[in-house]
Amino acid sequence: QTIYLSDYTPFGWTVESVHLTFRLAPTATRVISKIRFTPTPNAPKQAFFLHGEALTPIRCTIDGQQITPTFTDTGLTCDVPDTAFDWEAEVEISPATNTALEGLYMSNGMYCTQCEAEGFRKITFYPDRPDVMATFTVRIEGAEPVLLSNGNPIAQGDGWAEWHDPWPKPAYLFALVAGDLINHPDRFTTQSGRDVELNIWVRPGDQDKCAFGMEALKKSMKWDEDVYGREYDLDIFNIVAVDDFNMGAMENKGLNVFNSSCVLASPDTSTDLNFERIEAIIAHEYFHNWTGNRITCRDWFQLCLKEGLTVYRDSQFTADMRSEPVKRISDVIQLRARQFREDNGPLAHPVRPESFVEINNFYTATVYEKGAELIGMLKTLVGDDAYYKALDLYFTRHDGDAATIEDWLKVFEDATGRDLTQFKRWYSQAGTPRLSVSEAFTDGTYTVTFRQDTPPTPGQDVKDPRVIPIAVGLLNPNGDEVLPTTILEMTEVEQSFTFEGLATRPVPSILRGFSAPVILHRDSTNEERAFLLAHDTDPFNKWEAGRALARDGLIRMIRNGDAPDTSYLDSLTAVVRDDTLDPAFRALALGLPSQDDLAQTLFDMGNTPDPQAIWQALETLKQATAQHMQDLLPRIYAQYQVDGEYAPDAAQSGARALANAALGLLTRLDGGAQAQKQYDAADNMTQQLAAFACLLSAGNGDAATADFYDQWKHDRLVIDKWFTMQIVQADPDQAAAITRTLTAHPDFSMKNPNRFRATLGALAMNPAGFHHASGAGYAVLADWLIQLDPLNPQTTARMCSSFETWKRYDPDRQALIATQLDRILAQPGLSRDTREMVDRIRKA
Ligand code: ARG
Ligand code: ZN
Repeated sequence: QTIYLSDYTPFGWTVESVHLTFRLAPTATRVISKIRFTPTPNAPKQAFFLHGEALTPIRCTIDGQQITPTFTDTGLTCDVPDTAFDWEAEVEISPATNTALEGLYMSNGMYCTQCEAEGFRKITFYPDRPDVMATFTVRIEGAEPVLLSNGNPIAQGDGWAEWHDPWPKPAYLFALVAGDLINHPDRFTTQSGRDVELNIWVRPGDQDKCAFGMEALKKSMKWDEDVYGREYDLDIFNIVAVDDFNMGAMENKGLNVFNSSCVLASPDTSTDLNFERIEAIIAHEYFHNWTGNRITCRDWFQLCLKEGLTVYRDSQFTADMRSEPVKRISDVIQLRARQFREDNGPLAHPVRPESFVEINNFYTATVYEKGAELIGMLKTLVGDDAYYKALDLYFTRHDGDAATIEDWLKVFEDATGRDLTQFKRWYSQAGTPRLSVSEAFTDGTYTVTFRQDTPPTPGQDVKDPRVIPIAVGLLNPNGDEVLPTTILEMTEVEQSFTFEGLATRPVPSILRGFSAPVILHRDSTNEERAFLLAHDTDPFNKWEAGRALARDGLIRMIRNGDAPDTSYLDSLTAVVRDDTLDPAFRALALGLPSQDDLAQTLFDMGNTPDPQAIWQALETLKQATAQHMQDLLPRIYAQYQVDGEYAPDAAQSGARALANAALGLLTRLDGGAQAQKQYDAADNMTQQLAAFACLLSAGNGDAATADFYDQWKHDRLVIDKWFTMQIVQADPDQAAAITRTLTAHPDFSMKNPNRFRATLGALAMNPAGFHHASGAGYAVLADWLIQLDPLNPQTTARMCSSFETWKRYDPDRQALIATQLDRILAQPGLSRDTREMVDRIRKA
């Protein structure tokens, strides 16, 4: 059934304290809970209800008296005294058979938990809602050498350990880990002098992959002190790497649990991008200690309160540690690929949704990434000083609270005096605004007029105008900046801004730094775009000008059969040749709009995208680029080889990114000769994987495929890359067949979400293969989603979004997809998770 934000009611009792005892056993773990409840004065009258799912109750008592509650599939109700009482329950659970990876489960012999959002109810009976906060004491009894929970260790002995977390927390932040683990230890002294023990816990064999994560953790701790004044608040901070994990990582208080792919790092096995991502995720989970844990969410509709803000904070951190423009460009590429795609399809929902069936289906790009864009816009609107003043107020006013978006906006209103009523629409209205621009120039006055329109989204036909901060700069035709970046605050549907006293008609640079998550429509010429690519002082818009040139040229190739645009190739060559520009920026400039991006652009223009034609146009353009730059590429490739010891820093990874982009183009000229040399000589994964990709794309990958497997068959995270690369680089005609073959490989396992995503998720990253006219791509994905659903609903449901763009395509493809969606819906016992996703997609 559907849950509504408007139905929120506070729980009728306060939890004073929680004491849990775990007697671990793979298929018969006993959990004994002792909870003190006091009635909350003035709370709405309600029956006493505790959540509980898949629990075998052994006994329940109230104040020591045995009781007989009424049990349902979702929990229990019982009569309780009107005064404070002690609840005690013993239940049995089976972690070893818990393949959903929610609640207490086992991964490679290790016990671990995932409780966000509603997994704690699979551990014991409890008011499993984020506004119920309590202090937890946990006793773990088990034969495992390492027994961990939240907070500080208080006592331990042979076969047991006790932990106490002094900070009241909601149940979703509970964690327990028990296993044969090795730690990589370190220490950190906080601003005020608290000495904190740090550990990264891994399975034996992985201990040499922890050093980078540990450095990232210490940098994050320091950065949050320096930038937000936030200090760590326990004596110990533990991170654990787990192989089987549905998401990236989890911010459990004092005991972060990570998907091993998001923490283990070494030059031999991780790419530069892996390193950057690991650094960001460690920061993200650490930053949740304040934005998420000390201040949590009142209910799950407020998820963006912690996630949007924490994503924003981790992106600030990465920008500070590395390159701000490179981070911004990369984030916008991701935002467009995932969030704009979501916002333009049947799964579109507001940053703060108003209803859901399964909350796990709302850990989305909209809540996370668009949620972070809203924070960025607020900061742009109020200015940096006011932003940090508001954040200080947020931390002091709401420390210890389960807060709402209203609380968040009120803090900004109180700190800045600004009325944020209109801004709030960004939280409640789904859909990406289209911002169209028209211009006039007379007598030295330049007028720019914007119009905003947001297309309807499911359940929201009409949209009200939003506040849009539009960062604008003006350039003279000679390339000088006549107006430095200025924020225009748009509040109306249509609004004009004027700039006086200009000698000549300026070239505008609009939406600098991508100051709002909108789709900008502006008629422009190739000449003007080339001019901005060469002269814009805003690095984001400089990149964006090149991207727009590439996109327009590709669209003309696809729609009109035009040849590749030589003026684009000339401008791009000038950028690539320019050694004063950051190599990482040049590598980004060499990137092309994705197949999915082009499909959406064509659809918006009223065309039915043909996945094969889009793929072909990109191939043709890459080939033309390689030929156009054939004299330059060997020089770039040679010049940006990195000598000396490998470091995953911004400088080295930028150089490798540029050299490997050049290698990709060179491969189109030499059939893979240079790539083979790089593959043979590679002494780090960035170089090896880039060369492997080139060889596969050239159709010369057989030897490398065998060799790569042989070299890495003992390393599951590297073998994930081996699965993915073969599918992503497959010829579209073969992608589905290769996927099917790989799912029959002995190393394929659907029980491991990483491996499942590495295979079936990779197919969707080959759009011409996935959308092959035969329907073979749709069929193989649906077959495996159907098999996975009974084991792991959460991962199945997430992966259904591969189908979310189906309404863009031709009737034949739509019919093929509809058949698969209906086949999934017809499965007996289909999970609530998957049913909600497929229903929403199918209804489009
Ligand atoms: N709060 C975690 C993070 O953003 C994500 C956990 C989500 N897990 C889930 N099963 N929905 O880091
Ligand atoms: Zn998060």
